[in-house]
Amino acid sequence: MALQIIFSVIVSIALFFLPLYTSANEYSSVNFSYTGPHNGPEKWGSLSPLFAACSHGESQSPVNLNKSYIVFNKDLKSLDKHYIPTNATLVNNKFNIGVQFGGKVGDININGKNYSLKQLHWHSPAEHRANGRIHVAELHLVHKSEDNEIAVIAMLYKLGNPDPIISKIEDKLIELGRGHSNTQIAIGTFDIKELNRRPHRYFRYIGSLTTPPCTEGVHWNILGKLRTISEEQLELLKAPLDPTCKINARPIQPINDRKIQMYFKPNHNS
Ligand SMILES: *[C@@H]1O[C@H](CO)[C@@H](O)[C@H](O)[C@H]1NC(C)=O
Ligand SMILES: *[C@@H]1O[C@H](CO)[C@@H](O)[C@H](O)[C@H]1NC(C)=O
Ligand SMILES: *[C@@H]1O[C@H](CO)[C@@H](O)[C@H](O)[C@H]1NC(C)=O
Ligand SMILES: *[C@@H]1O[C@H](CO)[C@@H](O)[C@H](O)[C@H]1NC(C)=O
Repeated sequence: MALQIIFSVIVSIALFFLPLYTSANEYSSVNFSYTGPHNGPEKWGSLSPLFAACSHGESQSPVNLNKSYIVFNKDLKSLDKHYIPTNATLVNNKFNIGVQFGGKVGDININGKNYSLKQLHWHSPAEHRANGRIHVAELHLVHKSEDNEIAVIAMLYKLGNPDPIISKIEDKLIELGRGHSNTQIAIGTFDIKELNRRPHRYFRYIGSLTTPPCTEGVHWNILGKLRTISEEQLELLKAPLDPTCKINARPIQPINDRKIQMYFKPNHNS
């Protein structure tokens, strides 16, 4: 009798959590990729009901930062960042390489709401186009608010000197390249405070995640200033990825009726 009660309690608890688990599993077991006719970007929306926004969304990312949709907005605030060194883990997500933070790194403020930095990752080539131009790579700093809204700061790269942020984790990237996908390597304290420089120019629009589930309502902030990355570093970011994801930029999405707002303040102190 007692056993039966315990059993039914366990079953009800399991049933209660089931929807959560199936969706989490469904999400991680679905294979999206960047090539091929079956699970490339054109098919993402049909791979899972959870990915529907990838096909049917009307404010998707990335977009071309085309001069003809850009409007200067003098009311936009400066984009202040105060990231502090925090314990972090390097992660091979199979479709990109990222860094996951274990604690508080810092907040940005958009329209009065705080968004905390949770993770960063790279795409190559770049996803957002600069008035038609395709840059070699793009860094995404993904922030979340307490009510789970997402804000991303994006930085585009041109080829040149090594990026000091990537230089700090080069040995770990080499190690990641020797392992399997879905591997993680502890970084220890990761210091990205050089990203705290206040940008003179950034572009803001409302878009989506650029990977499934392509969730919309993302506040994008693309910095005007390019960073530099070396050929060697581009290779290090590519080597550990799944063969179908070595080129991991989603194609440009329609702008529809969106405008891209520009912040520009050439003379402020930084
Ligand atoms: C995903 O890909 C892996 C190997 O690449 C394969 O074993 C697995 O069955 C695939 N899963 C789905 C849902 O297609
Ligand atoms: C928002 O972030 C700033 C700067 O990190 C902080 O001073 C402030 O207390 C935060 N506000 C809330 C409501 O968390
Ligand atoms: C920018 O948009 C205009 C108007 O839609 C279009 O004619 C032009 O080709 C676009 N330019 C680029 C570089 O994509
Ligand atoms: C840092 O993160 C690693 C996992 O990546 C964890 O094992 C370690 O305990 C963390 N260290 C601190 C000081 O939180």
